[in-house]
Amino acid sequence: MKSSKSNDALKQLAGRAAAKLVTDGMLCGMGTGSTAHFFIEEVGRRMREEGLRIAGVPTSFQTRILCQQNGIPLRDAQDCRAIDLAVDGADEVDPDLNVTKGGGAAHTMEKLVASMASQFVVIVDESKLVSRLGSTVAIPIEVTVPAIGYVTEVVTRLGGQPRLRMGVNKDGPLVTDNGQLVIDAKFGPDVDLREVDARLHRTPGVVETGLFFDMATKVLVGVSDGMCVRTLVRKV
Ligand code: A5P
Repeated sequence: MKSSKSNDALKQLAGRAAAKLVTDGMLCGMGTGSTAHFFIEEVGRRMREEGLRIAGVPTSFQTRILCQQNGIPLRDAQDCRAIDLAVDGADEVDPDLNVTKGGGAAHTMEKLVASMASQFVVIVDESKLVSRLGSTVAIPIEVTVPAIGYVTEVVTRLGGQPRLRMGVNKDGPLVTDNGQLVIDAKFGPDVDLREVDARLHRTPGVVETGLFFDMATKVLVGVSDGMCVRTLVRKV
């Protein structure tokens, strides 16, 4: 779990608020990261103490373990056709509720699970609100191993500055839960990220990007002013 201790109280507020949206019988997408961690813990608590009964679809190996530790029964995405509610953190949220994800390299599975869900609820602390996607983080792109050179070249041609994500406590590049690599690409303010996303999806070897356009149903933001949760709803 990535550490960002200063905002943990706000992440917890958002995670707990999202857990209130979970009702009996739901199949829930369980996100990855430090904010989703609080959501999963609270869902587990509600199952133990309130008798809530749900099943979760994990978005990463880390989340699978956390759900198991919290007594949440699991289903694999490959065995499901639709999900009721997916809840996940984000690295950035723009004013139209588009988000960047993938700081933990789980964005391919996260996007699949969010797409399968009738409702996709994003939970963040206020530090994640930005005026423009890509302004505070590079855009993660999961790439098959043989395509790493080609995709690096494509990203450069699209105006990005690509960087292969390196492992932590491991020599060499990070390898995702899917056995693939991640390029983090920084783009300047003049680059149209929707166009970049479309071009990357037409590039062989690109598995998925961390750009989630038009997907979030709502965003729950933990805010320090009043220590409360603000709900942002996407206009459709
Ligand atoms: C995992 O790959 C990511 O998409 C996370 O969901 C995202 O980075 C948010 O993580 P935090 O809640 O830890 O900030």
